[in-house]
Amino acid sequence: MKNWIFACVSLLLLAQCRQAEKKADAAAAPAPEAAMHPAPDPYEVARGFAQETQAALGKTLQAQIGAHGPAEAISFCNVKALPIADSIARAHGATINRITDRPRNRANRANPEEARVMGMVRFSLSKEIQPDWLRLSENGTTYYYFPIMTNELCLQCHGAPGQQVTPEVGARLAELYPEDEALGYGPNQLRGLWKVSLKQP
Ligand code: HEC
Repeated sequence: MKNWIFACVSLLLLAQCRQAEKKADAAAAPAPEAAMHPAPDPYEVARGFAQETQAALGKTLQAQIGAHGPAEAISFCNVKALPIADSIARAHGATINRITDRPRNRANRANPEEARVMGMVRFSLSKEIQPDWLRLSENGTTYYYFPIMTNELCLQCHGAPGQQVTPEVGARLAELYPEDEALGYGPNQLRGLWKVSLKQP
């Protein structure tokens, strides 16, 4: 049975939805002894995981671009290569993936359900509402989705060819990713989603 938490209210009310859930959690507070060692809130774990992975990736990319230029940094935009993602995953029995409806690496292509989530996030952004998170529970696993937005740094490899993407970078990308769909972005656009999965306790 699927349990789409964000279906409980319209996307535009996501923030309130989260707050309502927090209040409900507070109402069902455990006995004082149990409260002394509260289990980490799974949402906070998932969000921390996505944020740390994003920060680690951004830092690595920036350092590589600074040292060697964007064409040489291309091989560093791969989440799986990040030790931080591994260590956090081990600590929490979690997995993290990046998905998108315009993939560069085909392995990151959103499945129909993920594409639906991305469509909802895009709709919400078009209404100038930044969705903070989305959650789906299924078969004992909870999936958390967090938007990945572009900034100026990204455009060196995801912007317009011949403009932000230099011919050298364009050629390297074409060689490695002949079916690349991840060019032509502007700043502050939805590029994809972090998908964090956590086993339910
Ligand atoms: C130096 C070039 C470079 C820069 C800068 C860069 N990327 Fe990428 N990006 C890539 C490459 C190469 C891949 C494919 C990685 C792989 O094979 O897994 C990729 C993949 C991705 C993916 C996974 C989905 C897909 O299309 O395969 C996302 C999401 C993404 N990048 C977002 C960003 C964002 C957001 C930024 C800026 C913060 C950024 N990238 C900056 C080169 C870059």
